[in-house]
Amino acid sequence: MSNRTFTMIKPDAFKNGHAGAILDRIIQEGYKFKAMKMTKLTPEKAGEFYAIHKERPFYKELVEFMCQGPIIAAILEKENAVEDFRKLIGATDPAKAEANTIRKLYAASVGENAIHGSDSDANAKIEGDFMFSVLEQF
Ligand code: RTP
Ligand code: MG
Repeated sequence: MSNRTFTMIKPDAFKNGHAGAILDRIIQEGYKFKAMKMTKLTPEKAGEFYAIHKERPFYKELVEFMCQGPIIAAILEKENAVEDFRKLIGATDPAKAEANTIRKLYAASVGENAIHGSDSDANAKIEGDFMFSVLEQF
């Protein structure tokens, strides 16, 4: 079990002014920041990040959405980080997310769902290295 996960505050949450509250919630839940940046994805970068969904009907829409505006990306550390963080963000569809999860509180729809969380230890490592150079990871 790895103790790191990777997250992005997506363009909708950033645009709607929820970034501060989300970052505060992450800190309150006991995660330590091991890398963080504000950036804006290009279609190439977003397409590569979500390449696993290339054949899905929502892929084009997803890539466009992720490039709409700035995001905040971060590597987070805590015991059991991947699994616990997925619980904290809630179901992909905010309508199905449990009360008080980040998506329930801040997401509007399955497409625009406020936040990303890695789904495995292996992907947490791949995604963290995708976004941050060695010099940016602490
Ligand atoms: P994420 O990777 O962003 O943390 O989300 P997830 O694991 O909960 O969901 P995943 O199946 O990996 O889907 C990635 C993102 O694609 C968008 N999506 N849109 N319109 C749709 O039916 C649909 N389904 C998925 C969402 O932004 C989802 O987070
Ligand atoms: Mg996913």
